[in-house]
Amino acid sequence: MISKSTIDQVFETARVEEVIGDFVQLKKSGSSFKGLSPFSDERSPSFMVSPVKQIWKDFSSGKGGNVVAFLMEHEHFTYPEAIKYLANKYNIEVEETEQTNEQKEQANERESLYLVSEYASTYFQKTLHKTDQGKSIGLSYFKERGFTEETIKTFQLGYSLDEWQAFTDEALKQGYNIDYLEKSGVTIVKGEKRFDRFKGRVMFPIRSMSGRVLGFGGRILGNDKKAAKYLNSPESDIYHKSKVLYGIFNAKQSIAKEDNCYLVEGYTDVIQFHQRGIHNVVSSSGTALTPDQIRLINRLTKNITLLFDGDEAGIRASLRGVDLILEQGMNVKICTFPEGDDPDSFARQNTLEELTLYLEENAQDFIQYKASMLFEASKNDPIKKAETVRDIINSISKIPDRIKREIYIQECSKIMDISENVLYSTLAQSSKKEFQEASKKHHQEQKAFDVIKNQQGQKKVDVQYELERKIIQILLLYGNRTEDFEDLILKENDKNELILEPVVQEARVFEKIFLDLQEDEMEFTNIKFKDLYYKIIDTLNRNPDFALENFAKDADTDLVAEMTTILMEDERYTLSDWERQNIFPKKKTDSIAQLVNETILSLRCFLISKKIDALSAETKNNLQVQYRDILEEVIGYKKLDNLLSRKLNKAL
Ligand code: CTP
Ligand code: MN
Repeated sequence: MISKSTIDQVFETARVEEVIGDFVQLKKSGSSFKGLSPFSDERSPSFMVSPVKQIWKDFSSGKGGNVVAFLMEHEHFTYPEAIKYLANKYNIEVEETEQTNEQKEQANERESLYLVSEYASTYFQKTLHKTDQGKSIGLSYFKERGFTEETIKTFQLGYSLDEWQAFTDEALKQGYNIDYLEKSGVTIVKGEKRFDRFKGRVMFPIRSMSGRVLGFGGRILGNDKKAAKYLNSPESDIYHKSKVLYGIFNAKQSIAKEDNCYLVEGYTDVIQFHQRGIHNVVSSSGTALTPDQIRLINRLTKNITLLFDGDEAGIRASLRGVDLILEQGMNVKICTFPEGDDPDSFARQNTLEELTLYLEENAQDFIQYKASMLFEASKNDPIKKAETVRDIINSISKIPDRIKREIYIQECSKIMDISENVLYSTLAQSSKKEFQEASKKHHQEQKAFDVIKNQQGQKKVDVQYELERKIIQILLLYGNRTEDFEDLILKENDKNELILEPVVQEARVFEKIFLDLQEDEMEFTNIKFKDLYYKIIDTLNRNPDFALENFAKDADTDLVAEMTTILMEDERYTLSDWERQNIFPKKKTDSIAQLVNETILSLRCFLISKKIDALSAETKNNLQVQYRDILEEVIGYKKLDNLLSRKLNKAL
């Protein structure tokens, strides 16, 4: 831990305007400074720094705070990283407290490894730019790949001479300790002999979020099939492959600003994207994505877009990463490139506009992607299809947010044409399995899932509320009108099959509604609506020409208030609201008769699915009941449900 006195000294010394001035161009404006917000794209400056109060405020994003807060926001430093950064800037010695000797040694060792790595990186860059071999071999290789001078500098690319120990000799001459050279992996020690690990390779330094060099990737130049194309630093106290993402230092600001992170497979993919102008891109460097790497991105954004090469080989394996991302409550999109292309080649061959458009048009939400890809492979195979559904549901079960899970279930049901109910029960199964494995969390989570079921019910009650309200609205607006109702009558044909037959009947709106609802033995669940409903029906029954506006006169205040809001409501608003709930795919209703039919059919569909839910719950909770009977009942209702859905579609 950093000592209190160091922290105090840092705060005393650091000047907010000086620190921020390293990142944002500031202009004096009265007693304070002004600049363009580094957190958003703006033309006129709304970013203020007050030297008097030693604080900053960004009016475009609402962020603000002291000097440390700025570094944490802008550089995505942790608190200690920010303090250390400032201490370094102002030459303050960092005093660590409560460190055992062992901890001190470790800290010193890590610090030494950082120094060696930093030195090596500088050396390799110098070699690339200043030696004949570096220029003729390394630099020309990068140029051939289309990298500009600026890009090479940005990514601190380098070259390691094709000699056995040129680098090691130079490092030793500069006073670096052989132990650290070995531990950081740049030098290989074999008895008395020392070798440069990256001999004859172009160098890609791998840097931490705060920009320190942790290790290297070195690419071979020729097409030597025997040697590995890339050689990477071994694990060390500072380099943990599973905890770093290549390019994160150059990408972090853009990731936060764009609120999205592109994840690619290779070093060159990152570099080519960056050069093209897309900076929010990192790479897991050829390994499977780990939870630690995802957490790194999670500090900056909740959104990840995975970019895959055109060939399908690695995709399936990489899809496992999706579940890990979902588990952390993040959103995943997937985008593939045309066959034979990878992000590197695609970015190189297209303009920024083309690339941006391609990403926009081809990035699919994981569920659409998974569904379409896996579905294609299992189209005509019911067993595979079932497996696919389970696979997707399994992914959905990883999402911690209940509402998101529900939305995905709905989406999945639409894409794959499987009822939501089936998907929900698969979800429950899939979750159950997982809970049994994670026995500790078991109880807690099981409860969470019980809540889903209730919530689902609750949401449907909302739908019911909306539909009941809609019926009242129709009655108040058009109750006494006479309309031609084209209805599809359910009939049994001579083969005992249920069929729909169209019939046109003239009727009063209120009569039609009343008769239809009675046929279904449907009762309003909302007390207010129920009162109002019977009042309207009763009045119109006695006097079909009763002026509808008079309803608002003699009702009690509570009901009047409700009636007025119902009547004042813009119908389109209600409809689009319903559309979200997936009741009506259409915005406008052409005729009143149609509106009545749609509303009643929607209500019927809803009540039937509720009935099915209740029956399945009964089967699950009570194994004593005649399973077979209930199953038959469910199947019966399902048939009816299908039929009604068809009818509803027709009515639309
Ligand atoms: N990789 C590795 N070791 C290898 C091969 C690959 O560490 N022997 C890692 C590297 O991080 C590489 C990534 O996996 O960037 C993706 O591999 P690949 O697609 O083969 O390499 P590219 O990045 O496309 O490299 P290049 O375009 O230079 O061939
Ligand atoms: Mn490549």
